[in-house]
Amino acid sequence: ASTLGASAAERGRYFGTAIAAGRLSNSQYSTIAAREFNMITAENEMKWDATEPQQGRFSYSQGDQIVNFALSRGLKVRGHALAWHAQQPDWARNMSGQALRNAMLNHVTQVATYYRGKIHSWDVVNEAFADGGSGARRDSNLQRTGNDWIEAAFRAARAADPNAKLCYNDYNTDNWNDAKTQAVYRMVQDFKSRGVPIDCVGLQSHFTGGSNYPSNYRTTLSSFAALGVDVQITELDITNANATAYANTVRDCYAVPRCNGITVWGVRDSDSWRSNESPLLFDGSGNKKAAYNSVLSAL
Ligand code: XIL
Repeated sequence: ASTLGASAAERGRYFGTAIAAGRLSNSQYSTIAAREFNMITAENEMKWDATEPQQGRFSYSQGDQIVNFALSRGLKVRGHALAWHAQQPDWARNMSGQALRNAMLNHVTQVATYYRGKIHSWDVVNEAFADGGSGARRDSNLQRTGNDWIEAAFRAARAADPNAKLCYNDYNTDNWNDAKTQAVYRMVQDFKSRGVPIDCVGLQSHFTGGSNYPSNYRTTLSSFAALGVDVQITELDITNANATAYANTVRDCYAVPRCNGITVWGVRDSDSWRSNESPLLFDGSGNKKAAYNSVLSAL
């Protein structure tokens, strides 16, 4: 097929991008997004600060713009993200203890209920583990409500939207030998053994160049899959859009039957949160880059 999404679909997978609501009126941007991709993530519009700016007052207009853009064109939606230490509204950042736990669970329930039936996969919990060699949880206001906050969020999400796939999503979990990767693996293994509802693991995969592409990435993907979860590459971008690393990412995913989709974190380089690194598949004028062709041939 001649587009990323259609090529992925031929292999029973999806190829997605992150979208910003404020850019949808740019026709070059929305044309590429709708033509090339068949899965859409809201870059910021479904995060806690956007969807519940004041406690108990929910605001879905920006998220709806993105969801409607996708669904009206037959594209699917990854929900991002229900519970996360970052991009919290001020009122939540200042909370702690049982009040914060209840507010977080109410947020998960309300947002997942509102979007019920429209979401392919939810990032229920994002970035809950610390970087470095400790393998520990990241210290955060949510973590300080008790170590069971992650499973509580997953149970609330399952009750609110029983048909969405529920994912744990993180970065620096690409190298199989890293303590952070191992710690997430053990959490997923524990959740599966105790019946905590988890269906997928998202690897953000913000790679910083071809040279650091983990040679054991495929092992990471297949090891998570062997726990009985789907694996998704959720926020892919690569410094200078190294074409070899992009193709290797696709090949490693495709070597693992349960690696069922790849999302790049933006459309054109000028749209990227790392725009100074030109990490995406389209340049700032909307032209296909070498990495685009390398991905399309690997799909
Ligand atoms: C980023 C967005 O791209 C930026 O626009 C925003 O300013 C900060 O967040 N991990 C995630 C994403 O899970 O939500 C982040 O997105 C990038 C890192």
